[in-house]
Amino acid sequence: MKVSIEKDYDAMSLRTARQVTELVKSKPDALICIAAGHTPALTCELIAQMAKKENIDFSRCYFVSLDEWVGIPPENEGSCQYFLRNNLFKPLHVTEKNIHVFNALAGNMQKECKDMDDFIRERGGIDLIIVGVGRNGHIGFNEPGAAFEQYSHVIDLHEVTQSVGQKYFREQTTLTQGITLGLQHLLDARKAILIANGEKKAAVIKEAIEGEISPQMPASVIRRHANGEFIIDKEAASLLSGNA
Ligand code: F6R
Repeated sequence: MKVSIEKDYDAMSLRTARQVTELVKSKPDALICIAAGHTPALTCELIAQMAKKENIDFSRCYFVSLDEWVGIPPENEGSCQYFLRNNLFKPLHVTEKNIHVFNALAGNMQKECKDMDDFIRERGGIDLIIVGVGRNGHIGFNEPGAAFEQYSHVIDLHEVTQSVGQKYFREQTTLTQGITLGLQHLLDARKAILIANGEKKAAVIKEAIEGEISPQMPASVIRRHANGEFIIDKEAASLLSGNA
């Protein structure tokens, strides 16, 4: 496990974006998964800038979504799909057939999970997965207690996720369930990166890096990954031992 501490959000985002562009340069048909949310916003912007400036071709890359709010349509600005399409797929000109995202409105959620697992398996697994972390330690919508061995599944959202999640929506929105890749997808990926910034994430980062590796703290799963990395800024690292 590697922990990279960058001076601020900009530097954290730059280091993370670089990992994506370097991968695509060496493997143009890589399968990539990047979380939605506030943490990866600048990373996505920088990837798009680098792709343009350095002429990096993303048209052969594959992308999957990490998760989605069940019942929230893709045109809702708070949906993960909305974020990914506008911040990543459109600016990078990713080919539509190379994109596989969870349909939050699907009638059969079990099939939705199976289709995602099949898509990933048929393409030889995820090359790079970049996740954020919730204040309760969740990864994607793998809430505390979610088994490390799970693939895609539907989950009842934790109270903290339901309330913190309101920040993505223009109006009060009922958020009850999520559909998400499982932590086994992360463990199977060739490289796994967790990004976090700001003081609000300091307590959970300390627990994830220095606490017990346990499903009660989903973010600790990164330490189980042979090629796992935390890329965090100084504020998120501020409670780590030796970093006072
Ligand atoms: C979003 C996702 C969530 C977020 C996490 C942190 O696709 O998977 O697990 O990564 O809740 O959210 P932000 O980055 O907004 O602090």
